Amino acid sequence: MKGIVLAGGTGSRLFPLTKITNKHLLPIYDKPMIYYPIQTLVDAGIQDIMLVTGGKNSGDFLRLLANGKSFGLKHIDYTYQEGEGGIADALALAEHFADGQKICVVLGDNLIEGNVRKAVDDFRNQTRGAKILLKEVEDAERFGVAELVGNCIVNIEEKPRNPKSNYAVTGIYMYDETVFAKIRSLVPSKRGELEITDVNNAYIREGAMTFSFLEGWWTDAGTFESLLRAANLVAHTRRQQVQDLERQLAQPVH
Ligand code: DAU
Repeated sequence: MKGIVLAGGTGSRLFPLTKITNKHLLPIYDKPMIYYPIQTLVDAGIQDIMLVTGGKNSGDFLRLLANGKSFGLKHIDYTYQEGEGGIADALALAEHFADGQKICVVLGDNLIEGNVRKAVDDFRNQTRGAKILLKEVEDAERFGVAELVGNCIVNIEEKPRNPKSNYAVTGIYMYDETVFAKIRSLVPSKRGELEITDVNNAYIREGAMTFSFLEGWWTDAGTFESLLRAANLVAHTRRQQVQDLERQLAQPVH
């Protein structure tokens, strides 16, 4: 399976932090934001990765990430989104790279505590369709929200005023090769973007969407509140890891 990180868009909700740089280059605790979604793919066992970026600072990604060696990769592919036509518009640019294979897409501002390897492996064994990961949240109206009936996902609403559940659709999506044909049939939403939620609903209508629940914390980092929250969550997790290690080292050796 191939991996795609989407890091285009303007980051307008973080202005003026994003006036002279790309949102995904901003720091989250001790690393630039873009490191986290790349690591998510690497931790899931995906080595073949493309980064979609855009805007005036796209060259900085190459300077920062180079050939991906610091992630243990042989190389990284890059492409450039003109304008900010939406998540699905950015994904469309990866068709040539995907080359008919299944893909796992991670939004450049999404961070997770855990590992999605199991979900990725399950999707490898899924004959066709798509898979998304859901997370229970308190502010569902900020996200794509899943409507569940029993064990089935029947619809996703993008940023609903009255969410039908507390299950946000996280920015980690797995698709078969039909995703690009689906994107071609989309029309821009009211906010002028090709919406990833419309892509997901197309799979739901075909009866080809599966989902699982994401374990551990999850956050986006596209607003001032979530940017701070992301840094605090990472800092807390790092502290816990250090404490766990210290505890292990303090154990007597028999
Ligand atoms: O974080 C999860 C949520 O992400 C989902 O629950 C929503 O369904 C999904 O629409 C998306 O919502 P946002 O409104 O938060 O997405 P945003 O516009 O902030 O874009 C998220 C990332 O997608 C961004 O960090 C980079 C990439 N992107 C976005 C746009 C609009 C692009 O690469 N190109 C774009 O044109």
